[in-house]
Amino acid sequence: MKQDLLTFASWSPEEVKSLLELAVTIKQTPTAYNQVLAGKSIVALFEKPSLRTRVSFDIGINKLGGHMVYLDAQSGKLAGREDNVDTAANLACWADAIVARVFSHETLEQFSSAANIPVINALCDKYHPCQGLADYLTMFEAFGKTEGLTMAYIGDGNNVTHSLLIVGALLGCHQVVVTPAGHEADPSIVSQAQDIAAQTGVKIVQSNDIDAAIGADVLYADTWLSMGDDTPLEAIKDKFMPYQVNEALMEKTGAKYVMHCQPAHRDLEITGSLIDSDKSLLMQEAENRMHAQNAILTKLLGS
Ligand code: CP
Ligand code: NVA
Repeated sequence: MKQDLLTFASWSPEEVKSLLELAVTIKQTPTAYNQVLAGKSIVALFEKPSLRTRVSFDIGINKLGGHMVYLDAQSGKLAGREDNVDTAANLACWADAIVARVFSHETLEQFSSAANIPVINALCDKYHPCQGLADYLTMFEAFGKTEGLTMAYIGDGNNVTHSLLIVGALLGCHQVVVTPAGHEADPSIVSQAQDIAAQTGVKIVQSNDIDAAIGADVLYADTWLSMGDDTPLEAIKDKFMPYQVNEALMEKTGAKYVMHCQPAHRDLEITGSLIDSDKSLLMQEAENRMHAQNAILTKLLGS
């Protein structure tokens, strides 16, 4: 039976841990995996812009011996031309998997039900699982473990927050989520993470008070306005500015490293100088997108 990756919430802690270990192995010994996708074609459909996800999937699939077809749903006018279920069923006639970046999580569920091939979530309104796995791979490399560490996410409760919560809970990493009032993470997804955390012994703290991040090992920032959110920056800037991740906050919390999924907005959610500092893991996270995704592709498509 085919397996999708829409969110890691349905995966066991052991499955995600072994996926992380596979990513480490693939990163260390890429030639051993260079035929995993030989003869296979993967369609990557994007309803939203992308730099890292698009390029890391394309180059990563090539390194596994496979072939990627990029579909830009916006400029190709695919969106709305036919029903999602028909798009997905057609793609499954030729492709071995679908990677999709979409506005609505529901679209992924429609793809999943209509296509008898794996569907991989490349970001939706609720989750960004490939990012989550790459980020914990990066933490694992930086600290030699994920268990018992604390990740403090600071900013808007969004898709990245949700995947960090779920994957972190699965990998034994304590979570602090600090947001301005009214911008909290989705309670139903926090509750999924809490269920996992209860099994793995992870503590999840949510707060509007930035001091909740004191003692964290890593501070994590993301954009204050996600793709598809047309709120003008000026309307939220004053509310979010006290939550900027900067050198003073690194000092105050004692965090060793700073992370950000990128695209980053210098001197808004994170200072440019912190991005460029030796505390920054941003480029390692970007590089690890490819290794994490290649582990996912190997797990879902490798024989
Ligand atoms: N982090 C991330 O997903 O980047 P892109 O939007 O450029 O793919
Ligand atoms: N939360 C951001 C992540 C970008 C990779 C967004 O959805 O735009």
